[in-house]
Amino acid sequence: MAPRAASDHAWASAIDERIERWRRRQALRVAPDLDRRRRSDEDPLILELLSSPGPSPETDDVIEAIATSRGTWSVSVELGRLLADLVRRFRPTSVLEFGSGQSSLILARALAANGGRRITSIDHEARFSRTAWEAIEKLPGVDARRVEAPLRWSLERWGVQRVYAGCAEVIAARGPHDFLLIDGPQWWYGREATLHLAVPSLAPGALIVLDDAGRHGERAILARWLATYPGLRWVADAPGFPRMGVAVLRWQGDRSAHWQARWTSLVEAPILRLQRFCRGRHAHRPSLTT
Ligand SMILES: C[S@@+](CC[C@H](N)C(=O)[O-])C[C@H]1O[C@@H](n2cnc3c(N)ncnc32)[C@H](O)[C@@H]1O
Repeated sequence: MAPRAASDHAWASAIDERIERWRRRQALRVAPDLDRRRRSDEDPLILELLSSPGPSPETDDVIEAIATSRGTWSVSVELGRLLADLVRRFRPTSVLEFGSGQSSLILARALAANGGRRITSIDHEARFSRTAWEAIEKLPGVDARRVEAPLRWSLERWGVQRVYAGCAEVIAARGPHDFLLIDGPQWWYGREATLHLAVPSLAPGALIVLDDAGRHGERAILARWLATYPGLRWVADAPGFPRMGVAVLRWQGDRSAHWQARWTSLVEAPILRLQRFCRGRHAHRPSLTT
């Protein structure tokens, strides 16, 4: 049995590496355009917050819990701190989040410390964030709503994408949103379509935080978003931010959009499945949907 297991391993690794190379090539193709955009719109204040996100009394216990937990599903300690800093500094009145969990609790606590207001969180599987949301619902002054919305394939103006289904009305009804966190399942699998879903209800000046923005797939998404919306500015980039980078964008209010049809996800879907299958054979590798 041993020789067979070894050859299986080599086969799975070879495919896995090829897919990673393909993703890296995609990211490299868009890199020059990203660099140009980033240089023109950086915001020194947000860059400063990114360089040293500080502790905050209202969220420290949640952050402590993230630090001591062994899972990698929640935001990093540093991103938790950054989110609290951004809410304290920019005082949003309506937060929209894709990908519920500890991040929701941090955002809701920071809102409560500001005197309250609204948070709307969308997730395809609410069971993972039950405990956090039980705590959120007890916070005074915070109008909190979590919506479970399945991720479905959909033919959109932007191509074939996975879209959180059935939540557009709630998002619109609870808008306009002046803070958006995108932290659903990775890449086009749960992130790319979220901005398109949120755009109709974003307030001018809204901040958009994309977790894991140093990853190849997320960089390709950033490039497509920026090419689609002239009203989007990339104000801070930290590809080395723990764990896999973060980017902050600002919505300027111009809702015009360039056509960006992208059909390649038809090809990417089976590729992602294949990679997940390969990675299943390597327990030490991070999960695909973190
Ligand atoms: C990156 S996680 C989102 C984490 C969230 N923002 C937080 O800070 O906790 C992306 C998605 O993974 C799912 N998820 C969370 N914990 C999970 C687990 N233990 N196993 C599988 N999926 C999980 C959730 O549905 C979530 O939307």
